[in-house]
Amino acid sequence: MTIQLSDKPLLEWAGDSLAIGLFEDAVELTGELATLDQKFSGVLKELIAEEEFKGKANTTIFTRVNPGSAVRKLILVGLGKPDALKLDTLRRAAAAVARVAKKQKSKILGFNFPLWNNDPAASAQAIAEGIELALYQDIRFKSEPEDKGSQIETVDLLGFSGQEAAITRANQIVSGVNLARELVAAPANAVTPITLAETAQAIAKDHGLQVEILEKEDCEKLGMGAFLGVAQASELPPKFIHLTYKPEGTPKKKLAIIGKGVTFDSGGLNIKGAGSGIETMKMDMGGAAATLGAAKAIAQIKPDVEVHFISAVAENMISGRAMHPGDILTASNGKTIEVNNTDAEGRLTLADALVFADKLGLDAIVDLATLTGANVIALGEDIAGLYTPDDAVASQLEKAAQTSGEKIWRMPMEEKYFEGLKSGIADMKNTGPRPGGSITAALFLKQFVKETPWAHLDIAGPVWTDKENGYNGAGATGYGVRTLVNWVEGEGSGE
Ligand code: BES
Ligand code: MN
Ligand code: ZN
Repeated sequence: MTIQLSDKPLLEWAGDSLAIGLFEDAVELTGELATLDQKFSGVLKELIAEEEFKGKANTTIFTRVNPGSAVRKLILVGLGKPDALKLDTLRRAAAAVARVAKKQKSKILGFNFPLWNNDPAASAQAIAEGIELALYQDIRFKSEPEDKGSQIETVDLLGFSGQEAAITRANQIVSGVNLARELVAAPANAVTPITLAETAQAIAKDHGLQVEILEKEDCEKLGMGAFLGVAQASELPPKFIHLTYKPEGTPKKKLAIIGKGVTFDSGGLNIKGAGSGIETMKMDMGGAAATLGAAKAIAQIKPDVEVHFISAVAENMISGRAMHPGDILTASNGKTIEVNNTDAEGRLTLADALVFADKLGLDAIVDLATLTGANVIALGEDIAGLYTPDDAVASQLEKAAQTSGEKIWRMPMEEKYFEGLKSGIADMKNTGPRPGGSITAALFLKQFVKETPWAHLDIAGPVWTDKENGYNGAGATGYGVRTLVNWVEGEGSGE
């Protein structure tokens, strides 16, 4: 499928399906649309009346046009109230159209959409992202896919000529999102610490990044006792991934993105019980997936920022070698941790990754982790929790997320709650009481960052969706990639 930019007048466009975005309560047709309606003998007006179409966001209707016309079908999509128009409204509307067009087996699809904020580049990018994200299909594990996929060959964005760069950017970003989706969706017997490290190496090779994989012995030398404690029961070796993107010339900033990379979380000896969703715990490397997806996109976009992509990858398993609940581990900054729950393993792996990144002398670190069920209880499935003591990094990420359409919400770092992690025998325990469980998890992570401005995103909810949601089909969402790309680029723009 290619997305093309066209300055062909609406009335002259020919193809299978023409999609028209309409604002809420403004569905009486004027100007060009009135002429278009006349051209098709009033079919648009009739359709709007018959279906009682009001232009509400995320509603679509369509109709067949008289045989022999230049356009076979018309698709109307609601955009909500004009003053509430967000970039993400266009992204979602484009996705809704793409799904309808796929069902109709359209080959040539046209879009007549308004601009968001008079910004043709951002608008074209969002529309392209919505189309491409919605048409993504994962058939890797089907011997005979029942869904034959979209037949769309070309998409014309009317009125967007000259916005080639925006489409390229959308393609680059979507390639990263889809990589993240594939990594999260693949089961734990396909994505292992070994294969995740291989994926990092492949990204490095394909896109010219530096890559370093620390093996277990290397991690031992660095004193990464927290990470290695999590890895020790598995038959598979841990892998510590460190990818680096360096721009040409002097970077404006140096940043790190760290992702939790637990390729399967059984819970360890505090094993996940019935109803705990243990069978979904292949998704526990969603942070690492977002990190690698962002690496792939950023390596193509080439911003003026040095970025380190880091993940301490392991499986949390049980065996005769497993951590005992109550074991004391020593992290690479010398802090000792009483593991009062082996199922709070993500923070143990992140602890050593944070210490590693903190020593690189960077301007900021962001980690992403499917860290706690408590975050899902607090914010639901769609919203990531943002935890940081740093207001500047918080607002950078909030801005980046606003543009990407990925929802985040800042949560309090209530220092007093650290009391819940006090241990009688070690420097801290790895879990506190159930109330405020996502906050104590963030406070735990904070113990491992000394120098660098840092933020943590708990993505346990949005990394996966059980049913179709906006431009995400049911399954892995690739959450985080788009926000990370925007964040890094924003830091490189010198604003
Ligand atoms: N990987 C889980 C968190 C999770 C839950 C991710 C739901 C995705 C969906 C994490 O390692 C975990 O088990 N957390 C525990 C912490 C508890 C033992 C303090 C939890 O949230 O129950
Ligand atoms: Mn766990
Ligand atoms: Zn986990």
